[in-house]
Amino acid sequence: MTNRLPTELLIATRNEGKVAELRPMLVELPLSLRSLKEFPEIDEVEETGTTFSENAALKARSYAEQTRLWTLSDDSGLEVYALGGAPGVYSARYGGADLSYDERIKRLLDELSQTGSDDRRARFVCVIAIANAQGEIINLSTGTCEGTIARAPRGTNGFGYDPIFVPDDYEQTFGELLAEIKEKISHRAIALEAARSFLQNQFSLT
Ligand code: IMP
Repeated sequence: MTNRLPTELLIATRNEGKVAELRPMLVELPLSLRSLKEFPEIDEVEETGTTFSENAALKARSYAEQTRLWTLSDDSGLEVYALGGAPGVYSARYGGADLSYDERIKRLLDELSQTGSDDRRARFVCVIAIANAQGEIINLSTGTCEGTIARAPRGTNGFGYDPIFVPDDYEQTFGELLAEIKEKISHRAIALEAARSFLQNQFSLT
């Protein structure tokens, strides 16, 4: 593993909603942040893993190898307890690749009511992997945000399953809460704080 510190960090996601959440939390690092949009020619990496960690690591490794940049990649999803953790790593594809999120949410609410269970607990999970310029994974950070599934979607903020996720200690869904609140308590915020602190340490150690 190289000890040379980077001047640039590739944020390896094509999801603009995620980039918007990640950027503000990384601006204080002495790194210029690059985005996958700047590399239209590189191959998209398929999420073939069965865990969030595997997917985050395989994306970070492959994009770092392709760009020769230190790379931060994440994998995340929603785990619904009464559905045995589904949709989990399949959150983005749940119900089929062509569904809209309105349709995906409806499907999830239908499946949950079909279980007959009163247990509406769920959690968002995020794993962030950092690879160095050689494609070696040098850090994995996990964040979770516990909550419950609302009876019907509410709010238009955020993305994905935000309109049906009510984080613990709040009454509004992520779709209703202000972005500033989500940026403090989300699974991504928690994982990113650990990843940011890892990177910060690398710079302080020199
Ligand atoms: P990924 O891009 O493979 O990490 O897919 C993550 C999927 O999980 C997203 O497309 C959403 O469906 C869901 N997801 C992850 N984080 C969030 C969030 O903060 N809000 C809503 N949905 C999320």
